[in-house]
Amino acid sequence: MPVTVLIGTQWGDEGKGKATDLLSATMDFVVRYQGGNNAGHTIVAGGHLLKLQLVPSGILYPHVTPVIADGVVVNPRVLLEEMQTLGERGIDTSRLLVSGNAHLIMPYHLELDKVTERYLGRASLGTTKRGIGPAYADKAARVGLRVQDLLDPKIFRQKLDLALKEKNAVLSKVYNRLPLDGAEIAEAYLELGERLRSHVADTSGILYRALRAGKHVMLEGAQGTLLDLDHGTYPFVTSSNPVAGGALSGSGLGPKEVERVIGVAKAYVTRVGSGPFPTEDTGPAGTQMSEKGHERGTNTGRVRRCGWLDAVLLRYAARINGLTELFVTKLDVLSGLEAVRICVAYRYEGREYEDFPPHQSIVHKAEPVYEDVKGWSEELDAVTRFAELPDAARAYVARMQELVDVPVRFVSIGPAREQTLEVPAA
Ligand code: IMP
Repeated sequence: MPVTVLIGTQWGDEGKGKATDLLSATMDFVVRYQGGNNAGHTIVAGGHLLKLQLVPSGILYPHVTPVIADGVVVNPRVLLEEMQTLGERGIDTSRLLVSGNAHLIMPYHLELDKVTERYLGRASLGTTKRGIGPAYADKAARVGLRVQDLLDPKIFRQKLDLALKEKNAVLSKVYNRLPLDGAEIAEAYLELGERLRSHVADTSGILYRALRAGKHVMLEGAQGTLLDLDHGTYPFVTSSNPVAGGALSGSGLGPKEVERVIGVAKAYVTRVGSGPFPTEDTGPAGTQMSEKGHERGTNTGRVRRCGWLDAVLLRYAARINGLTELFVTKLDVLSGLEAVRICVAYRYEGREYEDFPPHQSIVHKAEPVYEDVKGWSEELDAVTRFAELPDAARAYVARMQELVDVPVRFVSIGPAREQTLEVPAA
């Protein structure tokens, strides 16, 4: 069962790129299974700072086959631009495989993402405006175009004409925008499709056969558990399923293949965009997290909201994903705080909730119940072994593990590949 699933346990931006990059060394395939170029992975390797939105970070290892699987929504222009940037840095992208079943983000999806957000006004979700929601909506409505359609101009034009008739009516009559030109879109997309042709493959079949041959596969989630369409803080979520269950449907593999489910958790919490965030801290501690942690979106450049570690959320993520271990990131950012807070429960109308509350109003209005643990003053970036961490930092990790009841296997203390500490089993 050599499949490892790696997912975000919070609202995205947990540092999954770094975790994937580290673990890719032992993998044969690294697979993106949901989302699109709303994600942003920052990786520091070999002196390069790389920002990837769509291509799996495993691309950096020549022995890894990176895969964009069925559940992803692909903007072909963005994908080819990213491949070109990687190529210019000397990174070979010829191994990249893209599922023919993956849906395409079309120009009208980008347009609709912008106008619907504007239309929602104060109730807007704060999307990345990359057309993600509208592309998944079309997939569910069965009017989406897929990567395989790019390889068949006649079918592509037929499907586009059908979709565009409705999209243009909505854009012009509801949102007062100019209609889009179908011939122009077809010409541009079919040309992009030709450039992608050699990468299009039956990725689910390839992965299945690779597993039979004893290869190792990592399914790499984008966004995080609380942004999941079904299990997140709806409607302030993305339009796909980042959770471990989504990894299977999104890549076309069965549950028996999975051996490890690694949850990536930042040592504190951040959130981009709108929605509830019980442990948000807008005081000096939140400012430290924001500044020291460089908490600005890789993708949209937006400043991230910051707050204390939330064990209620982490326990929920452990349950929803069936986590087998935790990969804790950015512990170094908390250095210098006198006390570090962990939210152990939510309080609402006199009742305490240790488990994630089942009703949205509770999450929106909950007051966090904090436990304060001792902080540490030492900077951690030069530490090379877990045992060398200050006692208080180790105690913080131990408390996190205890509260979530999932072993912490790795602790990251800086952006570089080397700045990751393996936690010895207790
Ligand atoms: P969408 O995915 O662009 O539709 O955005 C929906 C929500 O998910 C917004 O609150 C975004 O800020 C958030 N979101 C989407 N992708 C990411 C990500 O990679 N990291 C953090 N938040 C994200």
